[in-house]
Amino acid sequence: MSFNTFGHLFRFTSFGESHGAAIGCVVDGCPPRIPLDAADIQRELDRRRPGQSRFTTQRQEPDAVKILSGVFTDEATGKQVTTGTPIALLIENVDQRSKDYSDIKDKYRPGHAGYTYDVKYGLHDYRGGGRASARETAMRVAAGAIARKVVPGIVVRGALVQMGPHRIDRARWDWKEVGNNPFFCPDPVQAKFFERYLDEVRKAGSSVGAVIEIVADGVPAGLGAPVYAKLDAEIAAAMMGINAVKGVEIGDGFAAAELRGEDNADEMRKDANLGNERKPRFLSNHAGGILGGISSGQPIVTRFAVKPTSSILTPRKTVDRCGNETEIMTKGRHDPCVGIRAVPVGEAMVACVLADHYLMHRGQVGEGTPWPFEKR
Ligand SMILES: Cc1cc2nc3c(=O)[nH]c(=O)nc-3n(C[C@H](O)[C@H](O)[C@H](O)COP(=O)(O)O)c2cc1C
Repeated sequence: MSFNTFGHLFRFTSFGESHGAAIGCVVDGCPPRIPLDAADIQRELDRRRPGQSRFTTQRQEPDAVKILSGVFTDEATGKQVTTGTPIALLIENVDQRSKDYSDIKDKYRPGHAGYTYDVKYGLHDYRGGGRASARETAMRVAAGAIARKVVPGIVVRGALVQMGPHRIDRARWDWKEVGNNPFFCPDPVQAKFFERYLDEVRKAGSSVGAVIEIVADGVPAGLGAPVYAKLDAEIAAAMMGINAVKGVEIGDGFAAAELRGEDNADEMRKDANLGNERKPRFLSNHAGGILGGISSGQPIVTRFAVKPTSSILTPRKTVDRCGNETEIMTKGRHDPCVGIRAVPVGEAMVACVLADHYLMHRGQVGEGTPWPFEKR
């Protein structure tokens, strides 16, 4: 199986599967002398970790990360920093229960990757979905924790904005609330409703989808490489590459098609209010911070839709590996709404794309070009 590597200059290669001994990744291309401790990575991993509420899978994985290489104590500061060499990260799997899958060993789970993996590779790793398991996304979060440190001043945050058909009320959006409920939900009222709603779904042996929004603040203008590595295209690819993602939007996304030109184009003024007349100010952000595939300096906004978990207790029609028609119900431990734990994964992938493009931008234009206003 190839294509386990993300990125151009900021790259990582992940390895491991759901019920193997360990998962890990090698992050290559990270600049030297960036302060980095295991705790920086662990903090992000802990947000994605399973088993933290009744609304996620009950698999108990501490997801304790070890940094195996690529760091050194800087004599001048006494701090551990990156060396510019490959950073290898390892997480041991400790709570695999392959017997949970013995009943469905030879059956394909509708909506899961078992059938297509078998068609392509001639193997069926039924134990937790093998390489198709979202265990792998822990390594994206780990690499993302490093990526966040590569671009000075960026803040990448995510929130669950819709569960099933139920949207949050954007008027109540409060980033501080995201850490106060088990859903990464910025609307405290809707978060309470999600508790009752997801309990109902879960107890009915079913699952539900979600929409996640990621916002990156502090992104410098100028990132993105037209024509074939547009920043929006790369973000869309990174979001789409997350397990269970079925749709991606940048800025107003599909809703932009309903607008008139004068409503959609973000008008510009000199940024006199902030005492910074050398930079333009945008009066709205329908574009989601990207114009012509290049960041405009506005917040980058992307949303992705996650399908309902395919592993459910409700019996479904399927076939087995011998071609017999049969039924399947998936017991074991599953996320009733995979969109919840997808929030830190989405943040991490946006951070990785931005780090990658930050380094490519620096490689091509050095310290940067003067602002258009400065040249005149
Ligand atoms: C954070 C996260 C957790 C997930 N947990 C589960 C799970 O518990 N059970 C399951 O069947 N699928 C889960 N998935 C989805 C599967 O990994 C995914 O549906 C499967 O690999 C098939 O790939 P596809 O949906 O992208 O086509 C999860 C996805 C994410 C992002």
